[in-house]
Amino acid sequence: MNQFRQDVIDGLSQPNKTLPSKYFYDKKGDELFIQIMSMPEYYLTKAEMDIFANQTAALTALLQIDKSQPLEIIELGAGDGTKTAKLLAYLLEQQYDFKYYPVDISSNALEILTKHYQNILPDLKMECMCGDYIAQVNELSHSNNPKVVLFLGSNIGNLTDEQATSFLNELSKQLNAGDRIVLGVDLIKSRDIVLPAYNDAQGITKAFNMNLLDRINQELGADFDSNAFDHCPEYEAQEGIARSYLKSLQDQAVKIGELTVKFAAGEKIQTECSRKYNDTVLQSILDDTTIVLENKILDNRQLFADYILKKQ
Ligand code: AVI
Repeated sequence: MNQFRQDVIDGLSQPNKTLPSKYFYDKKGDELFIQIMSMPEYYLTKAEMDIFANQTAALTALLQIDKSQPLEIIELGAGDGTKTAKLLAYLLEQQYDFKYYPVDISSNALEILTKHYQNILPDLKMECMCGDYIAQVNELSHSNNPKVVLFLGSNIGNLTDEQATSFLNELSKQLNAGDRIVLGVDLIKSRDIVLPAYNDAQGITKAFNMNLLDRINQELGADFDSNAFDHCPEYEAQEGIARSYLKSLQDQAVKIGELTVKFAAGEKIQTECSRKYNDTVLQSILDDTTIVLENKILDNRQLFADYILKKQ
């Protein structure tokens, strides 16, 4: 059985139904996520852009790059590279000797990224790596050159704290002492700011969540009626985790191939968790790793942080 089918069946067979958020990102999901990032309510991308565009020199200084050795900059989940371009342009301008390795699951995204960089930064040395960075983290060591790993966009927030620890442990195995990670995370803040980011007025985030049901229908021959579910985000500032759900609007039974899944009216499928951070949360994730929290840089509104972590 293919992995997608297996994961869907496993998730929907549990008493508290879940679907893995990684399946949001088919072609339509990628497009919707790009739209989400430009929604006025989705402050995360704009806040991190402020750091990369307006605090580039400060960010570079925190990386304490040794100019006498060639550097490798590896970006996990490179996406469209808008933020990173600011850092790379600055490093080229300052005549740092480095090569950029974007890692992304989408070969299409990597092709677009390569063309984009060839246009705007013709002197950039780059080599794309196509694959799921979570699974492929152990392919990342190219050499013993010093490394900076970029893991931006609060992508780590879509992992549970246990998953984040084990991911950082795997990543750490590929690094040498003194290598650094730039970890972009959304900060814990009040509900009135976070919740609208996951429930924009134009309904793009709703479409992004509901697209998962369309994908299951198309790829796994299921018969979800998207009108019988609603997008339902929740956030408790105390806990600092935004969760997205699809709520069944009625008692219903859905067929996924051979399997029939029953839903009671009001029953929810959890489709995503988006963890928000502060120093204490991050420290507890790092406690069981060989990575230490060294520094951080915040955007001008103090909504988002890029933490500088160092492999011990
Ligand atoms: C990719 N990730 C960090 C986004 C987030 O904020 O958790 C995905 C997203 N889901 C709904 N809106 C954006």
